[in-house]
Amino acid sequence: MLDTKTAPQEPALRIHNLHKSFGNKHVHRGVSFDLKQGEILGLFGGSGTGKSVVLRSIIGLESPDEGEIIFDNMNLAELTEKELFEVRTKISYVFQNGALFDSLTVEENLAYPLKAHAHLTKVEISEKVNHMLELIDMKGSNKLLPNELSGGMQKRAGLARAIILEPKIVLFDEPTAGLDPVNTERLLNNILSFKRRGMTGIFVTHDIPAAFKICDRIAILHEGKINLILTPEEMKNSENPLVRSFTTGAHIR
Ligand SMILES: Nc1ncnc2c1ncn2[C@@H]1O[C@H](COP(=O)(O)OP(=O)(O)OP(=O)(O)O)[C@@H](O)[C@H]1O
Ligand SMILES: [Mg+2]
Repeated sequence: MLDTKTAPQEPALRIHNLHKSFGNKHVHRGVSFDLKQGEILGLFGGSGTGKSVVLRSIIGLESPDEGEIIFDNMNLAELTEKELFEVRTKISYVFQNGALFDSLTVEENLAYPLKAHAHLTKVEISEKVNHMLELIDMKGSNKLLPNELSGGMQKRAGLARAIILEPKIVLFDEPTAGLDPVNTERLLNNILSFKRRGMTGIFVTHDIPAAFKICDRIAILHEGKINLILTPEEMKNSENPLVRSFTTGAHIR
């Protein structure tokens, strides 16, 4: 049997030398990093540095001009749309506003991926949806429509829908943007409880306290490359001017 203590663990995802230009704008100039199994990796960078493009490239919504995205021994950058469909059950993307279907109730929204991808009975689907609603503190919200939910509930429901197929990796694009402190705390606690159940994630954010709370490591995207990867502790103690621009909030001023 494989000794998990000594066997070197494969990263959950390996990004190698991504390049991407839009017209004459060279956004990624050799982005490389590993996402370890079970970690939440924060991704910091000024506005327009290409953080969302990194996430979108991972699930195939953008195709890199060069480079590799290795997941499960496949290069995601080379897959067809059909192959990507399968990958998106294993890597999911939490959109900024939750991206719920407006005309579907909360339970229909959550059931949607299960109906599309899992072979479950109606009863099993309903059990899974109810269990998920409990985990995100939304027990009993089954019949509500998205426009009847608060912003925080919409985001938590979006998170629940993204996670209901138990993907290996979850990509978060500014999940706490626009949330008040109470709802931010709730969402972060939800994410942490999914992490304890084995979720691996990338967390793009400008919310430094949120990242410090939930990330194992934080990568900084700067001038088209991952400039540094540090733990929150290392980042807090760093004198590096680029790091300081984030920890002091100067990068968004
Ligand atoms: N589909 C596209 N077509 C043309 N340009 C694009 C496209 N997607 C992104 N860009 C450009 O690429 C750059 C990086 O965009 P991206 O959305 O990844 O930035 P970001 O780091 O997520 O910024 P923010 O923090 O503001 O969300 C921007 O200059 C953006 O205008
Ligand atoms: Mg973005």
